[in-house]
Formats: sequence, C-alpha cells, structure tokens
Amino acid sequence: MNGIPNTDAGLDWAAGDVSHVPYKIYSDPSIFKQEMHRIFCGSSWCYVGLVSEIPNPQDYKTTYIGNRSVIICQDREGNINGFSNSCAHRGVKFCKQQKGNTRVFVCPYHKWVYDLEGNLKGIPFSRGVKGNGGMPSDFDFKANGLHKLAIHIQNGVIFASFDENMTGFEEYLGESNLHYFNRVFDGRGLKILGYSRQLIPANWKLMFENIKDPYHASLLHVFLVTFGLFRADQKSQVKMDDTGMHGLLISQKGEQKKTAATKDMKALKENFRLKDPRLLEPVKEFPDTSTVVMQTIWPNLIIQQQSNTLAIRQLRPRDAKSFELHWTFFAYDSDDEEMVRRRLRQANLMSSAGLVSGDDSEVLKMAQEGVTEYSEDRAILRMGGDSTHDEEHMVTTDDSVRKDCLLSSFWLMPSFSQSTLNRYQSPVLIPELAICLSSKRANRRWVPRTW
Ligand code: FES
Ligand SMILES: [Fe+2]
Repeated sequence: MNGIPNTDAGLDWAAGDVSHVPYKIYSDPSIFKQEMHRIFCGSSWCYVGLVSEIPNPQDYKTTYIGNRSVIICQDREGNINGFSNSCAHRGVKFCKQQKGNTRVFVCPYHKWVYDLEGNLKGIPFSRGVKGNGGMPSDFDFKANGLHKLAIHIQNGVIFASFDENMTGFEEYLGESNLHYFNRVFDGRGLKILGYSRQLIPANWKLMFENIKDPYHASLLHVFLVTFGLFRADQKSQVKMDDTGMHGLLISQKGEQKKTAATKDMKALKENFRLKDPRLLEPVKEFPDTSTVVMQTIWPNLIIQQQSNTLAIRQLRPRDAKSFELHWTFFAYDSDDEEMVRRRLRQANLMSSAGLVSGDDSEVLKMAQEGVTEYSEDRAILRMGGDSTHDEEHMVTTDDSVRKDCLLSSFWLMPSFSQSTLNRYQSPVLIPELAICLSSKRANRRWVPRTW
C-alpha cells in the first residue's frame, strides 16, 4: 500500500475554502492515484456485495474496491471472507468469473493454490523435482497468502476494508445514517431482482456529489419535478453524519401542480400525463412517511429508495475521467409477486437507462467535458451560504438554506481535512452552470453505454 508519491497538482485554491473548487481535481491522474490509495484502499468501509449473492458455502463473487479487484466468498464454516484477486507469486488476476462456487482458488500461471480465506495452501514443485530446485526450506506459506480484507456484515450487506484496524461500522456511519441504512436493510432476507452496469465518462466524485446535491433535482429532472416525486417545495430533509462523509436526501411525494415555489422550475410540465400511471403509484411500506431516501455511504455506495424501487449503486472508478456504476436491484424475500412486479416497474425511473437517472449520466459527461477543457477554472459553491449542517428542506431562496451543504461537508470530512486537504486541494461540486445548460439541451441526450 506504500509508494504513492506526493503530487503537486498545481491546484489554485485558498486553503480551507471549500466554496471554490479547482476543476483540475476531476481530471488529474496523480490525484486519482492518491484517491485510490488513500481513500478506497485506505481507511474506509467499501460496499462489496450482499450475503444473498453468495448464499451457500464455497460461493464467491468478484468485485472492486476502487480500481482493485477483490474476491468475496463464503467458506465452509459459513464465514464471509475477502481478499485480493492478485496472485501472491507474480500478481496474476487469477479469478476471471463474476460469480461461482469453488473449494479452492488456483492461479492459472504456476498453479499456486489458495483456500477460501486467502491462505496459500499449495505450490507445485515446492520440494523440487528429482532433488532439483524447489522453494527454499525457510519459505513461510502463512506469510505469503493473499491480502486479506477486514469484513463487516450489516443486516445482509457486506462491507470490506484494506485497513485491518478500521473503525467500527456503526461509528463510521453515525447515528442518522445508520438509522436510515437499517430502515431499508432491516434484517429481512433479500432477493436479487437484477443487475445493470454502465460506463460513465466522468470523474467518480461527480457521481457521488450528484446524490449529495438536492439543488439540481428540481431543475434538471423533468420527470421528478413534473410528477412531484422529488421537488424543492416538498417536505424534505438533508442529513449528514458528523464527518460529512455520508449523507441523506429525504423527501415526501407531492402533487403535479404549479405553486409559487415552482416558478423557477422550468422542468415542470403541468400537462404531461402517463399512459400507465402505475409507474408512479407507491405503496407505503416503511414506518415513516418518506417516499424517497437517497443515501450516500462513503466512498463507493449509493442506496436508493425511490417509491418502491430499491437499488444499490456501487461506484467503481476506472481512471480520473471515467467510472463504472454497478446497479443491483433487490426486493425482500417476504414480498409477494405483486410487490416484486411493482418494484421492477418503478425501476424504470432509476437505472442505467432510467427516466430520471439518465439525466444524471448525461450531465456528468457534460460536466467532465467542461471541467477538463477549462481545467484552470474553479466551481462556485455559495448557494445557501458557507456553513454546513442538516436542513429540514432541500431548497429555498433564503441564505440560511444550505442547498450545497452536503457537498461542502463531503470535502470537509477528516480524511480530506488539513494535511490531506492540502494535498488533495479538495472540494468539488457540481458547477451550477453546467446543470442549467443541460436542461436547455434536454433533447440532445447522450445514451450511456451499458453491457
Ligand atoms: S503468478 Fe500465480 S502462480 Fe505464478
Ligand atoms: Fe439527479
């Protein structure tokens, strides 16, 4: 994990000021390299999967933490383990399957064998052949296994960390974020409904910020605004943990009508009607009255509850200018057939080609183009003032409302503060101008690549 050079990215920003963000932070390869090393493969809990994806002994899946491939598996005793997908001998990424069931992992190159805890168990010719060659007598199998990950399972959701001394998960999440996490993942068995993946040509931070940015939702998303799913004039809350790492956008469905508060929402189309209104008919299923809860868990997880569609979005950064978004749609084992169909139907709103989330994919691409071409410029993040705290609404015209507070808090968190801040020159946000432009160009839709 060592050997990452410091970088002087030449970023122009006043120390500690998170309101003007140098665009270079979205495209500089040396910053990206440090992010992978210090954040994803450093002290964080990264989402890696659901227990229901590997329900049986010897089941495994491969996934990514940052830009590193890892294996998550269930051993014969029922324990969930995680380790690097890179052979201890010569580094070969030995497991190519996305999922499977196996007694051991065998590297194809020289056939070194690993058990389901990542321990090195066998080396061909380790004692030589006819008295020749072989491994030295002091070679220690125990000390030469795969990199093992710390694992935490929270109500069926698996998190992993390269940091063996990682903070406890509940402390990491904080009270309000833990509450909303346990609201969706309440211990009931989960049923996987399907997956989709997309490659978005934008820096990974732009995606994470997008879900922390309620300001854009009322202005960019025609569908959300028109049908009252998520709008600035509705009862809403913005919550963060103390560190600013994690965040929640919480809202309650409203009506399809214009009000004094919607006069700036050009995306609202009062005369639009759906041929099949079932798409927008949520059934109450949680104890509270919220119909939308979007949660970001640092650094790679977005949990989505939009009406009755439930999904996980996992970020896999590829390089400074692109990331993959891995979607997992799920239901509860206890759901009846009708509820499963409802969840699938509503998934048309939020997916790699969703009626709502397609807007975000497009605008992230446009943001990346702008910040790359004008890399010496900086974003302006002054909407709502300069403090960062929870709010009881998404947006007002009053300065006391912090529409951007999630974004600013995001970059004020400990892992980015002081010395790290100096190195990362951190904050980053959605440039407001880019969002306005995107709504004017709504007809020129870019279709994300999926596979
Ligand atoms: S590289 Fe894996 S056994 Fe040699
Ligand atoms: Fe959005």
